[in-house]
Amino acid sequence: MIAATGMAEPAYFPAAAVHTAKHKRRIKLNAPRHSILVRVTHWITTLSFLGLLVSGVAILLAHPRLYWGETGTAGTPALIDLPLPFLLGGQSGWGRYLHFLSAWVLVLTGFAYMVSGLATGHFYRNLLPSRTGPSEDAFRTYRAPQKLAYLAVVFLLFPLMIWTGLAMSPAVTSVFPELVTVFGGQQSARTIHFLITNILVLFVAVHIVMVAVSGFIRRMRAMIRGNA
Ligand code: HEM
Repeated sequence: MIAATGMAEPAYFPAAAVHTAKHKRRIKLNAPRHSILVRVTHWITTLSFLGLLVSGVAILLAHPRLYWGETGTAGTPALIDLPLPFLLGGQSGWGRYLHFLSAWVLVLTGFAYMVSGLATGHFYRNLLPSRTGPSEDAFRTYRAPQKLAYLAVVFLLFPLMIWTGLAMSPAVTSVFPELVTVFGGQQSARTIHFLITNILVLFVAVHIVMVAVSGFIRRMRAMIRGNA
């Protein structure tokens, strides 16, 4: 009775109902595993992260000591004295240039990912742990620890990274001094920036291992082409 309910009655049209369910499942399976926006932003983020890492190491090598508070120089006691060569004045010119370029690429890309993830409900649907437990299709969903790791990276670590980065910019903090005062000074912001880098590098290492052990080719194909 299509007219009364506005929907086909499965009891009267069993074949049609089965067809519709199959059709819906096929549409679901044909839908890309990752949207084009997630894929493009994922790989731009990966590239800019690599640029940030390489240039960050170059900047760090110019002065591989970490301090707490507002100031820190070669003559003052360090919080962490990294066992790395001191290349004062060495590589930090191109390092800084690449660092700021990659940082802005990452900020803009991250912004696009955040806005679309919120607008489309992607974060709510796919990254927020659900109470219902894992879905029957493990390939198309993330597990709870994976979701929590992604949420921490997207909503905590990257924002903190950008914040501590901006807190080291005199141009920015002259307008918004609170950005740096909450950390207790520019050197504290630098140390936190360094510690988050280590956590992110650890995340990426574990992330790649997890992708590798759960079917590297299939998952990579899905993250590149959309479908496995
Ligand atoms: C800075 C480096 C990276 C970050 C921050 C990062 C972050 C993420 C995030 C947040 C997701 C979930 C995306 C979403 O659904 O919205 C994801 C998925 C994924 N990433 Fe990465 N990623 C990085 C590097 C890599 C690298 C180097 C590879 C491969 C070698 C990789 C392979 C994948 C794959 C295959 C997925 C989909 C996982 C699945 O289907 O279970 N990622 N990544």
